[in-house]
Amino acid sequence: MHATICDLITDLVQNSIEADADEITLNVEETKTNLRIVIQDNGKGMSAATLAKAKDPFWSDGKHRHRKVGLGLPFLLQTAEMTGGSAEIESEEGRGTSVTLNLDPAHVDLPMFGNFTSAAVSLMTYGFDGNLTIEHSRNNQAYSVSRNDLIDALGCLNDMQNMVLLKQFIESNEKELG
Ligand SMILES: Nc1ncnc2c1ncn2[C@@H]1O[C@H](COP(=O)(O)OP(=O)(O)OP(=O)(O)O)[C@@H](O)[C@H]1O
Ligand SMILES: [Mg+2]
Repeated sequence: MHATICDLITDLVQNSIEADADEITLNVEETKTNLRIVIQDNGKGMSAATLAKAKDPFWSDGKHRHRKVGLGLPFLLQTAEMTGGSAEIESEEGRGTSVTLNLDPAHVDLPMFGNFTSAAVSLMTYGFDGNLTIEHSRNNQAYSVSRNDLIDALGCLNDMQNMVLLKQFIESNEKELG
């Protein structure tokens, strides 16, 4: 399996959605020397004991009984470890979770970055009743897009035409990052 950084990001945001968050922020900051990814949510959070179990690749809270696919928190920790980066998970029960990943973009073992536009489009069009803000910066350029603003502007995000517009919108923002 060749999971990308974008697959990892998607899984982490998915975790926030599954934790019943209704306010999620994904921040991706790229510089020449650092790739920083921060995902913050106001979901159900984890106790210290749950967090310790969650780092175990063979544990899942009942969703998949027998397996882990190697994504999620174990993949996060493994990616950081393999590439000399750092991963930090802060969580408080009833308040939310924040995951911070700092990676060396030049490390040979870093997974491919993947397609950020398609990851962003699928996250934005995923049916959940909350707001998701995506902030992406590269060197001195940045953009930010929020699900609430998109719904205000376009209406339903699951509509085919609106998905095409959304893809074009994110793609043009991505191009401007250079
Ligand atoms: N943002 C979060 N808020 C609350 N709990 C979380 C969060 N992220 C992870 N967890 C807890 O950690 C567990 C492990 O997460 P992980 O993503 O590794 O696996 P999973 O979501 O159970 O399965 P998979 O990602 O393979 O579908 C989750 O089942 C959940 O209990
Ligand atoms: Mg998960």
